[in-house]
Amino acid sequence: MPSASLRGWTAHRSTYVRSWPRPTRSPTSSRFHARNAVLDVTGALVASQHWFAQILEGSGGSIDTPMTSISRDRRHRDVQILVYEDIKERQFPDWTLAYNGSAHFVDGLIEVLAVRTGATPVPYHLHRLMQGIAEFTRRLH
Ligand SMILES: Cc1cc2nc3c(=O)[nH]c(=O)nc-3n(C[C@H](O)[C@H](O)[C@H](O)COP(=O)(O)O)c2cc1C
Repeated sequence: MPSASLRGWTAHRSTYVRSWPRPTRSPTSSRFHARNAVLDVTGALVASQHWFAQILEGSGGSIDTPMTSISRDRRHRDVQILVYEDIKERQFPDWTLAYNGSAHFVDGLIEVLAVRTGATPVPYHLHRLMQGIAEFTRRLH
């Protein structure tokens, strides 16, 4: 178990949701899956009609690289880092980026965090989104 793992959450809008190539569930299906694998970054991604919510986990500063790339990627708008926290163990250790597809009900869960919350997200809302993503990911196995 890594001793100093970090979990970072982002919620971001993408300007190219429509042209987003629906990835397969293969963990090496795209360049950024491969990049996460090299960095030993794991995580999960869920989409809604307007938003992506993404969780990245990794040791030391390894998640900073993809999080910085996502933040400066001009195809996204309104990238927000919701939480950056220490964790004892990863929740998505088997996935370079589990893709949970598009789920309409997560729209509200993401929006309440990204739009209606102030600087500090309400832990209850984060917990609900995390539980939803974790539940979807369990079904991918
Ligand atoms: C929904 C979505 C999720 C992404 N997730 C990751 C990711 O987990 N890791 C990553 O390296 N890039 C990810 N990317 C791609 C980055 O936004 C960026 O284009 C890529 O990392 C190249 O960054 P660079 O300019 O630093 O080379 C994602 C892009 C999208 C649209």
